[in-house]
Amino acid sequence: VCSFMHPLEQISALLHLLHLCCAVGWVLAMKDYLGLAFISEKYGPVFTVHLGMQQVVVLSGYEAVKDALLNTADVFADRPPIPIFHQIQHGNGVFFSSQELWKTTRRFTLAVMRDLGMGKRLAEERMLEELQFLIELIKSFQGGPFRLRLLNAAPTNITFAMLFGRRFDYGDPTFVTLLRLIDEVMLLLGSPFLHLFNFYPFLGFLLKPHKMILKKVEEVCVILRKRIQESKANISGNNLTSYIDALVFKQEEDNKSNTLFHDANVLASALDLLMAGTETTSTTLQWAVLLMMKYPEIQKKVHAEIERVLGPDCPPTFEDRKNMPFTNAVIHEVQRFVTLLPHVPRCTSADTRFKGYFIPKGTTVIPLLSSVLLDKTQWETPDEFNPNHFLDADGNFVKKKAFLPFSTGRRNCIGESLATVELFIFFTGLIQKFTFKPPPGVKESELNMTAEAGFTMRPSPQCACAVLRREPK
Ligand code: HEM
Repeated sequence: VCSFMHPLEQISALLHLLHLCCAVGWVLAMKDYLGLAFISEKYGPVFTVHLGMQQVVVLSGYEAVKDALLNTADVFADRPPIPIFHQIQHGNGVFFSSQELWKTTRRFTLAVMRDLGMGKRLAEERMLEELQFLIELIKSFQGGPFRLRLLNAAPTNITFAMLFGRRFDYGDPTFVTLLRLIDEVMLLLGSPFLHLFNFYPFLGFLLKPHKMILKKVEEVCVILRKRIQESKANISGNNLTSYIDALVFKQEEDNKSNTLFHDANVLASALDLLMAGTETTSTTLQWAVLLMMKYPEIQKKVHAEIERVLGPDCPPTFEDRKNMPFTNAVIHEVQRFVTLLPHVPRCTSADTRFKGYFIPKGTTVIPLLSSVLLDKTQWETPDEFNPNHFLDADGNFVKKKAFLPFSTGRRNCIGESLATVELFIFFTGLIQKFTFKPPPGVKESELNMTAEAGFTMRPSPQCACAVLRREPK
């Protein structure tokens, strides 16, 4: 839109168009990835759109996304400076950084997660402990309705344990505050006015959501800075129990050299894990429970498999998924169907030719992950919730190459293993103990399956009921 005009002309045209933009903005923010998928049906898997003042290249469908992210990985590995995230992170951290700082911080973060036992037995033990807290919390509603978002508590605490070195009681004021702030920020990130700000940052003085986001993120940063200071006061190399400790230790260790782990990068990296590591897994778990309420016959089959393999009381381990193909298929199908992060932008680090098109260095590229997860050439019934997508004729679990909810290539999600174990343990553990049903008076067909667009596609706010199957002996 208007990319050929002088900025002053743009302002004048835009003020006239603001009303229209807001209306379009709502649509864009909610279902922009559907619009882009629609365009790709006419213009093919690689096309350009003008988003605000930027030309953006969109990649659609499994083949184009895989070719870019896997086969041309180096060229597509940067992130563009998105105005809101630039104001928060200034190009630091893992998620929104590029080049040397990104490579070093990502490598360091992966190593620390491994050292802290994430994705391994230790993490599983933590998850089983957390599962018990969540089960007790759900039991306290005695089969009555509770907000689906309550499920966030358990996955959030796993990330917090990694970040802060300990779990929090669900009533702890810091835990409650952080959960609220994360929720509010994630929702505001889907606001159409925030999209408008990202498209036209010079309109910032007229718009509100980015200011609210900055204010709330600052509140989160106050808590993180306090924890970083505590770590600085007590740090010793033999005592690294959290990601924040590890960051602080690395900073002190590097101090003599010109470290990339300066204060801004330490804070941004902690903030990245706090944000990216909570909302994503939590929201997927909410969807999983919502879909089980919507499809009770699938929930029954999952429970039958759990009974056969684990019985009513034996806690699940990640190893058990090998004997539980149906449950495993259901979890994969939840992740495919909900397209949690429909697209995360990248940026070219050099001039390149891709599928016959010249793309200059510094171009924003949107690999549409949703178009891969819903690709008609890869899935039998892409728009239906169908666990058979991951099962062969004999009921064995089958991996699918187009299953890319965590993206792929050099910049794929660093929390993939952790989230995969969490989803299996929490989902299996919950269905083992409870039958999930819609609240009284709501039919399965009346459940609201519309996604609310925030940073992720999250279920609309609603309640669930959990009926205890039987008390353990
Ligand atoms: C990046 C999905 C859980 C931390 C990403 C990306 C996706 C994604 C699609 C973008 C990758 C790209 O640019 O191609 C998910 C999903 C999750 C999940 C679906 C859960 C179901 C987590 C968890 C953590 C985490 C638990 C942390 C413990 C990150 C970070 C990045 C990232 C730091 C940035 C990586 C980079 O830019 O190098 N995630 N994620 N995620 N994720 Fe996750």
